[in-house]
Amino acid sequence: MSEKTLLLTGASRGIGHATVKHFHAAGWRIFTASRQDWAAECPWAEGLLNHFHLDLEDIDSVNDSLAVIKAKLGGRLDALVNNAGISPKGPEGARLGVLQSDYATWIKVFNVNLFSTALLARGLFEELSAAKGSIINVTSIAGSRVHPFAGVAYSTSKAALCALTREMAFDFGRQGIRVNAIAPGEIETSILSEGTADIVERLVPMSRLGKPEEVASLVYFLCTSGASYVNGAEIHVNGGQHV
Ligand SMILES: NC(=O)c1ccc[n+]([C@@H]2O[C@H](COP(=O)([O-])OP(=O)(O)OC[C@H]3O[C@@H](n4cnc5c(N)ncnc54)[C@H](OP(=O)(O)O)[C@@H]3O)[C@@H](O)[C@H]2O)c1
Repeated sequence: MSEKTLLLTGASRGIGHATVKHFHAAGWRIFTASRQDWAAECPWAEGLLNHFHLDLEDIDSVNDSLAVIKAKLGGRLDALVNNAGISPKGPEGARLGVLQSDYATWIKVFNVNLFSTALLARGLFEELSAAKGSIINVTSIAGSRVHPFAGVAYSTSKAALCALTREMAFDFGRQGIRVNAIAPGEIETSILSEGTADIVERLVPMSRLGKPEEVASLVYFLCTSGASYVNGAEIHVNGGQHV
């Protein structure tokens, strides 16, 4: 099998959906995982067969599904993109600070945004190793500064995901697996809050939202030979919002 293989979580919309379309256009074989069913408008015929119905909040089901995923992958995986993420909000989209965040919120966010990514990487280590593959973790600008709409559980999970990227880059580098993160700013998807237009106006030098395709092309580049010495990096894709 000469076709390269991608497994991406959270492919059903937003950045994930744009990313699987980008990889498919480049000739990769696509495996997807999310809670929703595979979207019929996806332009690849094998999509339904290669979609895993997976709730990353339920860590037992992540562990249980590894055998099925491994069987489908058939021994090698060129790219694992940990893209799925949740950012719970309070009433009317309010930021959930420490005082507004209960234990259930912390656990839910960390299961989806952090713990499941480490367990998938551990579970698929053999396949990634066989392909000398890449892992891309989708972090956030909120992982390195306070964001007006991102809650504390979300922001700290993304900061931890950046640290996990560094740790895995160290642990997996000798096996030829590169591990990097991309940190989006304000990208036009359903995760955005009302009021984002104000942030864009005040804080983004390019004065516009990013498009999911502009993130997808960076994820793709990091999984190609053009990025063969990039390991343990977190790359910002935010129109200069971090400057
Ligand atoms: N858009 C932005 O401006 C922005 C900025 C910074 C970082 N990010 C990060 O970029 C990533 C993608 O965000 P997006 O904007 O594309 O978000 P989105 O449009 O809300 O899509 C999120 C994806 O994650 C999946 N997902 C959510 N909960 C899940 C669960 N429990 N189990 C499995 N899949 C789950 C969803 O699929 P199902 O609903 O089908 O499960 C969906 O496909 C996230 O990690 C997010 O934190 C986005």
